[in-house]
Amino acid sequence: MPAILSDRDRQKLDDGDDRTFYRSPRFVTHADDGFLDRLTELYAEVSEPGDRVFDAMSSWVSFLPAYDYEQVVGHGLNEEELAANDRLDEYFVQNFNHDQSLPLDTDESDLLCCALSVQYLQYPADVFAEFGRVLAPDGTAVVSFTNRMFPTKAVRGWRQRSMDKRAALVEQYFEAGGFAETTRVTDQPETDPFYAVVGSHPE
Ligand SMILES: C[S@@+](CC[C@H](N)C(=O)[O-])C[C@H]1O[C@@H](n2cnc3c(N)ncnc32)[C@H](O)[C@@H]1O
Repeated sequence: MPAILSDRDRQKLDDGDDRTFYRSPRFVTHADDGFLDRLTELYAEVSEPGDRVFDAMSSWVSFLPAYDYEQVVGHGLNEEELAANDRLDEYFVQNFNHDQSLPLDTDESDLLCCALSVQYLQYPADVFAEFGRVLAPDGTAVVSFTNRMFPTKAVRGWRQRSMDKRAALVEQYFEAGGFAETTRVTDQPETDPFYAVVGSHPE
């Protein structure tokens, strides 16, 4: 697996265990309504009722459209937040900076979401390879972000980059994960800037 982030790039200002940082639930949103509405719209465009969804690095809200999905699996670091998320049928807690293997079957998701969180990954190539494995043929992965973050927990390689260079970095993550194609979506300069990289299934 090619390393995209150097050891220096993956450093965090707070190098303590991420589970400690996320021990207390935060029942807040991490972007403004303009951003979140655009995210819901994008999910609606790339998925349909009956799909199986995996919401990686989730919390108490998933911003999914009001579709009747077959199944929504959530993942995060705070169990109380995940338990409060009424879109999730099931969830698991796992620190991706310790263990990148997903306890999910190959091809089991039609839509994979990772919202406002990719900046916290220290081993993104391994995580994205797992994203590719669990994504079904003709499935879609949506990795979204804005210019907000918990700065002490974002990797140095993220903090140092401009928004466009962050998007290019996420595209590299997808490429390292074996995804065949990505599309960059940017929008809404008057609100929190909306950035998403949308990846299709590995060939
Ligand atoms: C800013 S919150 C975003 C949560 C949610 N996706 C949203 O849009 O509201 C960042 C999330 O990343 C997840 N996260 C951070 N560090 C992580 C790690 N090392 N392993 C797994 N998940 C992590 C946590 O679950 C946390 O809720």
